Amino acid sequence: MERLLTGRRVLLTGASRGVGLAVARLFVRHGAQVLGVARDSRRLERLAAELSPAGPEAFAWLALDLTETTAPAKLARVVSERWGALDILMNNAGVQLSDARGFEGEPPGTLEQSMAVNLYAPFHVSLACLPLLRKGSEPRILQVGSGAGDFERMRSTGIPSYRLSKWALHGLTLLLAAQLAPEIAVNALDPGWVKTDLGGPNAPGTVDEAADGALELALLPFGVTGKFYKNGVEISF
Ligand SMILES: NC(=O)c1ccc[n+]([C@@H]2O[C@H](COP(=O)([O-])OP(=O)(O)OC[C@H]3O[C@@H](n4cnc5c(N)ncnc54)[C@H](OP(=O)(O)O)[C@@H]3O)[C@@H](O)[C@H]2O)c1
Repeated sequence: MERLLTGRRVLLTGASRGVGLAVARLFVRHGAQVLGVARDSRRLERLAAELSPAGPEAFAWLALDLTETTAPAKLARVVSERWGALDILMNNAGVQLSDARGFEGEPPGTLEQSMAVNLYAPFHVSLACLPLLRKGSEPRILQVGSGAGDFERMRSTGIPSYRLSKWALHGLTLLLAAQLAPEIAVNALDPGWVKTDLGGPNAPGTVDEAADGALELALLPFGVTGKFYKNGVEISF
């Protein structure tokens, strides 16, 4: 198998399960060095053991809650000590906390917590990592957005806090892309509706398909920035 990410240094949030876990496996298989982040240390430890045959540099992990105010600086410090630079930041961790049809049906704090994980964490982690990305090679930020947060779906009902947080993340993608061009590419991924704890058991897609989409995004020509992709095809925000 051709290894497409040899030596790429990747900070991946939400690596403990779901899409992030599949991305960690795929990226390591392609020769990347991955630092995986999530809260659940047991799952991360298990993943590290699984990936250890790929070598001591292939997968490292850090257990932390991305909504804690100290998390972004801590992540940047760990990356700096490990690599001194960063090639790919993949902001994948996300939550969908309620299935309610409208804002009134969502438990108190749903919007705040959704924004904390799905928007503020990617914002603060991205900013904290900029100096490291600037020292990286063809550096990129990959934001895991969602079709649920595209502009058309702002006219629909269901999961409103989740939609709003992903719509805002898409906006952040565009703003960062404009501000960081041509130094750092910033693009968003719709992983598709896939079977995970978040996507649920009825989702038609698999995490491996989502990980393939992430790989395509990681391999885009470096000049491409401010775009939204699903399965390697550009879609509308
Ligand atoms: N599945 C789908 O159908 C679908 C569709 C469109 C978009 N997406 C997006 O794809 C991304 C991954 O979703 P998924 O389906 O893989 O979800 P998932 O299976 O629920 O996994 C979510 C990941 O985020 C981590 N996470 C959540 N809150 C965190 C926090 N406060 N601090 C650190 N890590 C945190 C979780 O780890 P811990 O619990 O260990 O902290 C876990 O690794 C999300 O951004 C989601 O919005 C998914």
